[in-house]
Amino acid sequence: PEVHILNGPNLNLLGTREPEIYGADTLADIEQMCLAAADDLGLALLFRQTNSEGMLIDWVQEAGKSAEVLIINAAGYTHTSVALHDALKALQIPAIELHLSNIHAREPFRRHSYVSAAVAGIICGFGADGYLLALDAASRLIEKA
Ligand code: DQA
Repeated sequence: PEVHILNGPNLNLLGTREPEIYGADTLADIEQMCLAAADDLGLALLFRQTNSEGMLIDWVQEAGKSAEVLIINAAGYTHTSVALHDALKALQIPAIELHLSNIHAREPFRRHSYVSAAVAGIICGFGADGYLLALDAASRLIEKA
């Protein structure tokens, strides 16, 4: 079974970007962790990042064609993108919303997510470990399907 992990804007800067909030791991470190975990779970993993909203939407649509579960850290677009919400609503497979930080414990503008109403579940606040928790959740969703 195939799982896609999509990462939105500025997550390419992980490691140097506000490490007190987002941790010291780079996105490449997190990708390596995820590839190893996916291997253990018997999942084929596509892991990618873009700064572009349109690209993220294209990739959500692509996941609908080839993946069983989508995991998405939409980063800043979480709080702004109706178009991303619509793309997730159109998706025929379950999606998991993911954030490194606890978006509810930060600035008020991060408390609203356009992603949340269009996904099966949400993982936030566990740093890079959240990616592993999300893969575990994806594997469980696939087992139950
Ligand atoms: C984030 C949280 C968002 O509010 C922020 O815009 C990000 C990263 C996280 O993973 O904690 O870029 O999605």
